[in-house]
Amino acid sequence: MAGLIPQDFIDDLIARADVVEVIGRRVQLKKAGREFKACCPFHDEKTPSFTVSPTKGFYHCFGCGAHGTAVGFLMDYDHMSFVEAIESLANTMGVAVPRDQSDKPARRYDELFELTAKVERHWQGCLRKHPAAVDYLKERGVDGATAQRFGIGYAPDGWSGLLDKYGKSQDAIDRLLATGLIIRKDNGRNYDRFRDRIMFPIRDTRGRTIGFGGRSMGDGEPKYLNSPETALFHKGRELYGLYEARRALRHIDRLVVVEGYMDTVALARHGIDFSVATLGTATTVEHLNRLFRLTDYVDFCFDGDRAGKAAAWRALETALPHIREGRQIRFIFLPEGDDPDSFVNSQGPDSFMELLDSGVALSDYLIGGLAEQVDLETIDGRARLAELAKPLLAKIPHGVYRELLIGSLAETVGLSAAKLAKTLEQPAADSGFARGGARRSALGRAGSGLSVSRPSVVRRAITLLLNHPQAGGKLDVEKLAGVSRPGVELLHELIETVQAEPNITTAGLLERWRHDDQGRHLGKLAMAEIPSDNDFDASAELHDCLDQLALAGRRERISFLIEKQRDKTLSDEEKTELRQLN
Ligand code: UTP
Ligand code: MN
Repeated sequence: MAGLIPQDFIDDLIARADVVEVIGRRVQLKKAGREFKACCPFHDEKTPSFTVSPTKGFYHCFGCGAHGTAVGFLMDYDHMSFVEAIESLANTMGVAVPRDQSDKPARRYDELFELTAKVERHWQGCLRKHPAAVDYLKERGVDGATAQRFGIGYAPDGWSGLLDKYGKSQDAIDRLLATGLIIRKDNGRNYDRFRDRIMFPIRDTRGRTIGFGGRSMGDGEPKYLNSPETALFHKGRELYGLYEARRALRHIDRLVVVEGYMDTVALARHGIDFSVATLGTATTVEHLNRLFRLTDYVDFCFDGDRAGKAAAWRALETALPHIREGRQIRFIFLPEGDDPDSFVNSQGPDSFMELLDSGVALSDYLIGGLAEQVDLETIDGRARLAELAKPLLAKIPHGVYRELLIGSLAETVGLSAAKLAKTLEQPAADSGFARGGARRSALGRAGSGLSVSRPSVVRRAITLLLNHPQAGGKLDVEKLAGVSRPGVELLHELIETVQAEPNITTAGLLERWRHDDQGRHLGKLAMAEIPSDNDFDASAELHDCLDQLALAGRRERISFLIEKQRDKTLSDEEKTELRQLN
């Protein structure tokens, strides 16, 4: 992150930067059709394969794979830091980089933090005055001390509680909007986002409140309403409860990742202070980076339902590149129907700690999860297992851990480790989301990420979105629920980003994913040629991709259930589900 430079300023700068001019000032470019070419400044070559695309706002070298935006170019070519590159760009474009002393008060971070702090205190005051809200918390086992520690409050019913109290000037209204506390209607009128909800402040590592989650006390939908993405709040990066954990513990020696606000609060209430919650999103690379900066021991504890299991598998996939000697990553599965909150409240903290200690090591979970999808009794099944493991193992950094994992996998498939290692090294299977999925598969959650030369639907959707960010505005991300193809998580995040930032450009998206493992692939996809004649309708194509994925997700689920039916292990719930799906 760029210190105190507002994200919207960065997006805007990248959208307006002229990549041809920036690079052209340092490298001799030649026009070639709609693009510009040069001999690549990042590797030795005689024929030019370095291409700059002014419309998409970035460069790509077909020889060495170097690619990036104007910002990335300055960083790589001139060895600038991110902030220096932004400043340099702004300088050449004659605009000042807004900082703390910005003359746009609504964007000043400290003023926004001041507002969120005030609102948080205000809602805590409201809680004391609303017995129904206090009763709700008590009912759920949250005592006063825990509520206080997490700064839990209550936003009363009504459309203008905050607006009336904190929106007395235009600047003040702008600040309420900038923090997502009020919503502006099309007719220009504003209203409070959070009404009649228990409020959970979400804090950054310094304890400043950057957003809120609000739980309805009854059956009101949605159950949880969260702050939108704002200059302060990026959902995919934050871990709820991390600040509180650091404050409670002198030294963090382990962390357990749970799914919900109430899980973290309930665990803390029972003296288990080291849990953090992802905020209704999948575990991201940013989350993992943050976790592993603090400790080497990370447990994932997911709900005992199907969604929890899918989330665990996705967490495993995201965690693979983070595996190192000395790190311990484990998975804990709660009994069906339980979440950490209900479990710790009914069974007590000791039972929860026991459960944690019985967690499954990542390596066992990986092999077990794959083995579940094949018939190990047959040669075909064992070969298939090796195939399935290939893209996953490819994500694990070379080292002792990988060797050991290959060793146990070899045992499972009945090959020598050396032979298996050799099979694994065989080319083609592009690990990430880039390929695969097109093959018909009767697999459960892991899907197929293997070598099929036809580009996958996920890849196509990502490519379309990158090249036509505006076409993603009306997509229904819900369609991706339950779809477990490689890359779906990234697609999901991309859709959310283009919907939250309707003006974002291709280059802007690439910059957003600068620090992400998956982001490396995006540059290649952004370079893909997409027809741009008049008939081409990127939005319709995207809708089509999502429909295909939704259908594939349904099919996968059906064949999974049918397999179970064959094994006679189908629960009553699943029977009903299967009937409804069919
Ligand atoms: P869950 O549906 O598992 O809820 O969502 P929960 O944590 O058990 O909540 P309680 O116990 O019913 O109060 C897990 C997390 O997903 C996000 C929230 O962050 C929630 O804590 N979520 C869920 C939403 O953002 N919106 C929703 O409508 C539901
Ligand atoms: Mn719950």
